[in-house]
Amino acid sequence: MKARTSPELSNDEFELLRRLVEERTGILVSERKSYLIASRFASLIEEEGVDTFSELYTRARAAAPDGPLMDRIVDAITTNETLWFRDDGPWYILRTALLPRYCAELSEGRRNRVRIWSAACSTGQEPYSVAMTIREFIQDEGLVSVKPEAFEIVATDISPQALEIARRGAYDQMAASRGLPPQYADRFFESSGSTIEVVPAIKSMVRFQRFNLQQSFALLGRFDLILCRNVLIYFSNELKLEIFRKIASALCPEGALILGGSESAQGATRLFQMVRSGRHLYYTARLEQER
Ligand SMILES: C[S@@+](CC[C@H](N)C(=O)[O-])C[C@H]1O[C@@H](n2cnc3c(N)ncnc32)[C@H](O)[C@@H]1O
Repeated sequence: MKARTSPELSNDEFELLRRLVEERTGILVSERKSYLIASRFASLIEEEGVDTFSELYTRARAAAPDGPLMDRIVDAITTNETLWFRDDGPWYILRTALLPRYCAELSEGRRNRVRIWSAACSTGQEPYSVAMTIREFIQDEGLVSVKPEAFEIVATDISPQALEIARRGAYDQMAASRGLPPQYADRFFESSGSTIEVVPAIKSMVRFQRFNLQQSFALLGRFDLILCRNVLIYFSNELKLEIFRKIASALCPEGALILGGSESAQGATRLFQMVRSGRHLYYTARLEQER
């Protein structure tokens, strides 16, 4: 059978699809990037058996916002690029500033749990890296009175496909090799054929959930640490600020926010104060009356 050639994407079609994407995901596709919509939605045209991007758009508008077509659109437009222990900052901050405090408070009975949120977890490398760092810290420091179960890691993403991989916790050699130090591979993974799989002790520390950052955060509860890394870059300044506001309200007193290596909370300085940890930075929310 002859492969179908993908139709042309007109300016009007680009405008319609770009608006739909921003409305449903917050992701801003710049005017110069029509090729992104054309290339990422080409396979959807084929799968849906439609002839034009207008038809795809009409179908998407008529479809349920949480139905399979919208899910495929979300999967196609999101960039799920991630790696193990991405950037040095989060792991340094966890080991030297946050975990010593959390563990001291846990073992002295000043708290009984620590809640951590990986707010755009993609295929799971970020929350699993957090879980490995916690287990390693507790074991290496010989903290017998601190149980890893005291740490609740909630990991969310908008992409169903990314979450499916994350939940499975099994990675091919290519994904496994990206940033994973051999000592962690030996300690926290099991080999099965051509893939390696996160051990149950690490998997059980993370709870995956579908969540769109455009939604209200109210039902998620409060967190001691929020990692919101390499996702706000896709949003408009207005949406970024709205999400910063929601993050500030979702942090416990003294709670910490860690952003991506090249990101800052610039524009939200009324909400957060910057904390230095070695040569790395994290943020804490200012008191409501100070904002
Ligand atoms: C580049 S990955 C970053 C993954 C990880 N945080 C890291 O830094 O390696 C960006 C992730 O943000 C997710 N994303 C995009 N828009 C989102 C939204 N509105 N709500 C929740 N997640 C979103 C994408 O599905 C993708 O998995």
